[in-house]
Amino acid sequence: ATYKIGYFVGSLASGSINRTLAKALIKLAPEELEFTEIPIKDLPLYSYDYDADFPPEGRALKEAIEAADGILFVSPEYNRSIPGALKNAIDWGSRPWGTNSFARKPTGIIGASPGSIGTAVMQSSMRSVLSFLDAPQLNSPEAYISYKPDVFGADGEVKDEATAKFLGHFMDEYAAFVARVLAANAPGHI
Ligand code: FNR
Repeated sequence: ATYKIGYFVGSLASGSINRTLAKALIKLAPEELEFTEIPIKDLPLYSYDYDADFPPEGRALKEAIEAADGILFVSPEYNRSIPGALKNAIDWGSRPWGTNSFARKPTGIIGASPGSIGTAVMQSSMRSVLSFLDAPQLNSPEAYISYKPDVFGADGEVKDEATAKFLGHFMDEYAAFVARVLAANAPGHI
């Protein structure tokens, strides 16, 4: 089977190391995963005033989440939490009330930072948010990536064998998790 994965990059920066990480993950992922980025940069800041009539960017975001079999978040940590642009996108996807697009979607969380914490605190915040939104998350392996510029090439090549192996393993486990959640979500499965 093939699975459609919608991925979010939590950074708007032109030189984003997390965008580079996303490229590497796509290269290392098993063949059955097909990736489409879900863009966040043109979303207005959410308020419930939009609920009566979502703008095209908000509708497109919800449609992209709903069309995906699984969601992958590749994000930096900003001030020990989720970057505002990404949190804004999640807020859009969660609303209007009663139409939370993330419900029961299998999700994966990964991120890179130049420091050694490797986005661990952002990922912890993200787990609280996704739990509230009823989105199951790959729990293991965790992936806290301490970004070394000599390891990651601009087009997603990974020059260190151990890092490439670990990231490939993360994506294999993520693919298996997506398959398990989709099977559990299927009608008739208790
Ligand atoms: C950071 N950075 C950062 N790093 C970290 O490990 N923990 C943190 O809490 C923060 N906080 C933070 C806040 C803000 C506003 C910025 C701009 C940066 C550093 C961050 O990891 C670094 O800039 C990365 O390059 C960000 O990832 P992208 O945007 O390059 O993908």
